[in-house]
Parts: sequence; C-alpha cells; structure tokens
Amino acid sequence: MARRKFLMGNWKMYKTVGEALAFATAISESKTPLPESIDYAVAAPFTALYALRSALPENVLLGAQNAYFEQEGAFTGEVSARMLADVGVKYVIVGHSERRHVFDESDEWIRKKVHAVVQAGMLPVLCVGEDLRQRELNHTLRVCERQTLSGLAELTPEQVASSVIAYEPVWAIGSGQTPSPDDAEGVIRSIRHVVEQEKGSVAANSIRILYGGSVKPGNIAGFMQQVNIDGSLVGGASLDPASFVDLAVATAGAAQ
Ligand code: PGA
Repeated sequence: MARRKFLMGNWKMYKTVGEALAFATAISESKTPLPESIDYAVAAPFTALYALRSALPENVLLGAQNAYFEQEGAFTGEVSARMLADVGVKYVIVGHSERRHVFDESDEWIRKKVHAVVQAGMLPVLCVGEDLRQRELNHTLRVCERQTLSGLAELTPEQVASSVIAYEPVWAIGSGQTPSPDDAEGVIRSIRHVVEQEKGSVAANSIRILYGGSVKPGNIAGFMQQVNIDGSLVGGASLDPASFVDLAVATAGAAQ
C-alpha cells in the first residue's frame, strides 16, 4: 500500500499568535504553492491553535505538541486531548525527546497519552529515538523497540495503522548533525518490523514513520528517497514559511 509522504512542522515554544498567523498567511499566499501530492501539519503552541485553525490553508492540518491523558479535572497547567480535539487539532506529538528528557515523561505516561489522543479522535505522532550514549553503546534498535512497543501498547492494529511514529535520534535534534539517510532508513525499517511482529502486517505497512532531527531544505531529499521513510518532523527549519515551502517541494520531488 502506498503511503503518502507527510511533512510536519514542530514549532516547539516559538511564535506568538500574531507570528503564527503571519506564517499561515505567508504559506497561503506563497508564489510557490504547497505540492498537493503530500500531506502537511504544523504543531503549534497551545496558545496559537484556536486562531490558526481557520487561518491555515485547508491542506495543512493543525497539530499540537503534547496532551495530558486525563479528560478533565484538577490538573493545573495541563491541556487534555479532548480540549485539543475541540479546537480542531488532528495530530498530537507525544513523547518528544524534550518531553522525555527536560520534563521527565516516562514510557508509561507516553503510552497513556497516545491512548488518550486516539480516544479523542486524533492521530498520535509518537517520537522515539536514542541519545548519544545509547548510540555509542549500540543500543539504538533496543531503545527504539522499547519506546515503540510501549507507546503503541494500548492501540488496536487498526488504530496503529493510522498513527505516525517519528524516529528522532536525540543527538540529531537541533544539533545540525544527522545520521546518513541509509542509517535512518535502517532504524526505521527495524521499527516497522517491530510494529509488524506486534500489530501485524497491515498496521506495519500502513503506519507512517517519519525521520526527524536537523532536517533542512538542503538535506531532506536524501531521507525522503528512502522506501521506509514516510516524511519528516522538522523543528527549526519549519518556522520560516519560505523554508517550509522549500521542504515541501523537496519532499514532493523526492517522492516521485
Ligand atoms: P530540529 O527539531 O529539526 O530543530 O532538529 C526536530 C524536532 O525536535 O522535532
């Protein structure tokens, strides 16, 4: 089954409402339109979601960067999956390495969050990936396998099929360093294999697995040419609208 390529921006803690709207206007009015052969989303800060919902072009879906697993209650400072669905969010990043490492989120929390996102009718983008020490110890596949199995544990094969995984080596995020496209392809192939063993071949062939970590317009094509890499999760290079359009054009070109 052919999987459509998926370009997702992760804005992290960047952009006020005004800046987010300026991005939406710029890509809507861009002289180079976003190619229609691939799918898009931007994961904006919570504060910009409501305004962005009606400002983004129709083919750029709204994403969030985190969600709490309880529906509502006395959880000061948290935002639930249900609240995100209510403002039009379609994709929610779960288990980003900055959540795992800066905010100490456990595999258990991430598993509950993935489940809550699906229960609320949205699609999770589960992030997995090794840190530098784990890579040096040759534990990359082991770490990705554990995070993948744990993150998807509560989902049915059908729910897994429409989910997204982002393989993001921690050492590549924001560092300007990347694995080679071949190297990333090898890890992503193993992740797909793990999904197949646990959830079956339909789920494994349908789930989109992205590469993320220092993706730029100049290096994205090499990753997108790999058969198992279905798109990318892009931080820094997704903030500027012209750069986002360049990433889109390069992705669509490589996918042909
Ligand atoms: P980067 O971030 O593209 O700035 O390396 C990717 C991510 O954290 O998702």
